[in-house]
Amino acid sequence: MRFQYDTIGERFVESKTVAAFSAADTHTLLGALDALGGVSGLDTLDLACGYGYNTRLLARGGARRAVGVDISEEMIRLARAHGVIGADDVATLEGAVGADSSPEPSEDDAVAAALAPGAVAPGAVATGPAGSTPGRAAPRDTSIEYVVADTAKLPQLGPFDLATAVYLFSQATDRSALHAMFRSIRANLRDGGRLLAIVPNAGAYPHVDWSPYGVRIVDRVHEGDAPLLKAQFLTRPSVDFEFREWAHADLAEAAVEAGFATVGWQPNRTPPPDGARDEAYWTAYRAWPISSLMTCTA
Ligand SMILES: C[S@@+](CC[C@H](N)C(=O)[O-])C[C@H]1O[C@@H](n2cnc3c(N)ncnc32)[C@H](O)[C@@H]1O
Repeated sequence: MRFQYDTIGERFVESKTVAAFSAADTHTLLGALDALGGVSGLDTLDLACGYGYNTRLLARGGARRAVGVDISEEMIRLARAHGVIGADDVATLEGAVGADSSPEPSEDDAVAAALAPGAVAPGAVATGPAGSTPGRAAPRDTSIEYVVADTAKLPQLGPFDLATAVYLFSQATDRSALHAMFRSIRANLRDGGRLLAIVPNAGAYPHVDWSPYGVRIVDRVHEGDAPLLKAQFLTRPSVDFEFREWAHADLAEAAVEAGFATVGWQPNRTPPPDGARDEAYWTAYRAWPISSLMTCTA
């Protein structure tokens, strides 16, 4: 079976590395991981891992185990390729699979260093000037495993201390799949383990224009259990994609039904301003950001 991201593949890699909303999501996730004390020594699971961006953050932050799961064989192929060369540039990736395993430090390295024991605040590292990366936090690849699987039908891969899910739940096509995803994640977490999920905020379309931040919503169709949003990653060329606009209450209900003991929400955080994105740019974004952070305790 072909899935949406089997064809989006490399355009998603481009979006992830250039889009401002993605930078804000990473900043938000890093802040939450830092608040939990980092990931050093933890068994971690990254669901809807895509090309492994967040899985690599976990591994390089010193996780004992970092397992990335995605339904798309193409995204897992890209993840494995990035695991070899550790870069986020598509051209480099395509040309260098299996080549030099010691490339220049990448953006991944900078954010991973933020997760390392004793690291400085994540924002300061993730947005620091070129050359400020304080070295690599953990050996590359040694603890990364990738699995092609549907999170709604996830086998027992754990137990894990921590799961991340960046834009997983918006891929659930109906309520039963959404609930099955939360149940699978809960079953793979130890008691007291955490789920950190980046989830879209509902209700922005047609009032909010996110195109300065790398994504555009073009339609909202009422069908099924949650509205279907038709959107574009503003890459070159742009690429169409779809996701479900679950209300936060739907997500919370699914988490509780799956047995999570606590459910919490945090607003999106934004990186410090720099030459490319000033304070006014981020202030406008924070008025109605694309996503929020959902935190659940197993
Ligand atoms: C927007 S991408 C996010 C990728 C990654 N989390 C990141 O932030 O770079 C959504 C990903 O979810 C994956 N996906 C969709 N449905 C899934 C499912 N049921 N189980 C696991 N992965 C799924 C897609 O293949 C795609 O790679």
